[in-house]
Amino acid sequence: MKFFVDTADVDEIRELADTGLLDGVTTNPSLILKSGRDIVEVTKEICNIVDGPVSAEVTALDYDGMMKEAAVLSKIADNICIKLPLTMDGLKACKALSSQGQQTNVTLCFSANQALLAAKAGATFISPFIGRLDDMGIDGMELIEEIRVIYDNYGFETQILAASIRTVNHVKDSALAGADVATIPPSTLKALVKHPLTDKGLDAFLADWAKTGQKIG
Ligand code: E4P
Repeated sequence: MKFFVDTADVDEIRELADTGLLDGVTTNPSLILKSGRDIVEVTKEICNIVDGPVSAEVTALDYDGMMKEAAVLSKIADNICIKLPLTMDGLKACKALSSQGQQTNVTLCFSANQALLAAKAGATFISPFIGRLDDMGIDGMELIEEIRVIYDNYGFETQILAASIRTVNHVKDSALAGADVATIPPSTLKALVKHPLTDKGLDAFLADWAKTGQKIG
């Protein structure tokens, strides 16, 4: 399973990239706002930190506008992945960009039928939003499971990118459901390593080690 980080904060991205565990980055207009940076400038900086796909989202609602914005964004770096909304115009732009060999991420997916359309449009990634479905009392993980079955039924190569992840259990359940990628907020990604028994066990080992009076090397 690939791990993307869901942020436009370059300090967080650099810290996580240094671990060697980061496969890509997703941004969106809200995350760009939070960063307080210019979209082209910050996205370029992110692309220099991470080799994998960096999703940058268009904001136009019509096909022509999306294609114009995609042309600007795709010039930022070779690893740009154009993020498009799950609308008819977004799917049409996805089809055109994917046919040109451009990586694409169709975002704001809340149903299996929407995911089916994105795969038919040749999307590189489909982003089902788990947390926002959970917020409405609908089990977001069921959507990941449904998409997995549909894509496997027809051999679609579109990768399922579990998005709107809010908890460490969302990451585990997405992996169990067969998502190809999870895009995770930095704090949740860092929390994946935590377990109280790991800390307790390490304390005990170090206390015993100190009693041996030894040093390695
Ligand atoms: C995905 O690409 C989105 O940027 C993100 O996961 C949305 O998450 P949210 O619902 O927590 O805003």
